[in-house]
Amino acid sequence: MSDYKQQVSRRQFLNYTLTGVGGFMAAGMLASPLRMAIDPVLQPSRSGDLANVGLAEEDITTEPQRVEWKVEQVDGWYESEVTKSAWVFKNDKGEIVALSPVCKHLGCMVSWEGSEKYPNEFFCPCHDGRYYKDGTNVPGTPPPEPLDVFEQKVENGMLFLGKAHPRKGA
Ligand code: FES
Repeated sequence: MSDYKQQVSRRQFLNYTLTGVGGFMAAGMLASPLRMAIDPVLQPSRSGDLANVGLAEEDITTEPQRVEWKVEQVDGWYESEVTKSAWVFKNDKGEIVALSPVCKHLGCMVSWEGSEKYPNEFFCPCHDGRYYKDGTNVPGTPPPEPLDVFEQKVENGMLFLGKAHPRKGA
């Protein structure tokens, strides 16, 4: 009788031990991907960050000029430095306009007056995509919507740009 009791006790002990070790290992295996999935969500948003693009407001004219700047990009746990660019100019009202150079058709880079056939327009060489100066897509050309517009501000006479946001299509 006492042998039986001792045998049951060993089984229970083994069960508890294996369950405990198994649970500990499972928790360890799940912790990393779970933390990876949740942690970026808990991080403070960097969307409000605007970067100094190295262009003085007084140097911005009505002629679009391309500016490039570098930003730290955080993708989950991966941090990297990426180069961003924009077409910047002043419109007829003297307001600063900063357009994304990324074509809204399939993502090629547009150029100001990139085609001799279409002066005063942004041109995408990949499929002859065209945009008016304000970034609105020319109807009947491949791009389905206007170029994205960057968040912007001027501080101490310098232009700061943030994220580019889409607009409604033409
Ligand atoms: S990617 Fe620009 S027109 Fe197709």
